[in-house]
Amino acid sequence: MKFNVLPSYEDISTYAAELVKQVVEEKNDAILGLATGSSPIGLYKELIKLNKEGEIDFKNVITVNLDEYIGLAGDHHQSYRYFMNDNLFNHVNIDKKNTYVPDGVAKDLNESAKKYEELVKSLGTIDVQILGIGANGHIGFNEPADELVLSTHVTDLTAETIKANARFFETEKDVPTEAITMGLGLIMQAKKIILIASGENKAEAIKALSDDMISTRIPATLLKFHPDVTILLDKEAASLL
Ligand code: F6R
Repeated sequence: MKFNVLPSYEDISTYAAELVKQVVEEKNDAILGLATGSSPIGLYKELIKLNKEGEIDFKNVITVNLDEYIGLAGDHHQSYRYFMNDNLFNHVNIDKKNTYVPDGVAKDLNESAKKYEELVKSLGTIDVQILGIGANGHIGFNEPADELVLSTHVTDLTAETIKANARFFETEKDVPTEAITMGLGLIMQAKKIILIASGENKAEAIKALSDDMISTRIPATLLKFHPDVTILLDKEAASLL
């Protein structure tokens, strides 16, 4: 794991965008694994800028998102499909047909999770996976538990995650309590992983990535088994290292 502490969130975003640009330069039909939430917003802004400047071409790029809330359709303002359209896809030359986000309103959610797993596998291997990290160490919505699931699945969100994500909703009661998420399998199979963490509330989780232990109670520690993880941090997130 490479820890890279940068002076500011803007620097993290620029650095991450440069890494993504390199991947797409090497392979114009690269598969990007994408995350939502606050952490990658700066990266997406930077990718939009690079695209407008002709520095990165999304024409043949494929994207697969980590997760989606159960019960929110793609046109719901808090859905992750909406987030992706709004923060990236609507502003770059990507073909939306090549952008995939799990379906949170499918009739049979378990079947839909299984199909998403098969779909992502059929596209190929994720070239670079972007991750944020929960203050409790979750990645995607793989929440702390005694056992972690490998494949895409439906999961309950922990009270801590619901509370943390309430900032995007009118009230905490509006936050969905379940999500559909890629499991540890697809994440760990990605060729390269970039994890972005900013702010003091991530410091404990980041500290757990730097010691000699792994635990399913801090899911991100499983990333220690991956051969190519870059962790981009600001000083606050790195404050306990
Ligand atoms: C979002 C996701 C989550 C977030 C995590 C951090 O697609 O998979 O694991 O990355 O909850 O969220 P932020 O970046 O909002 O602190």
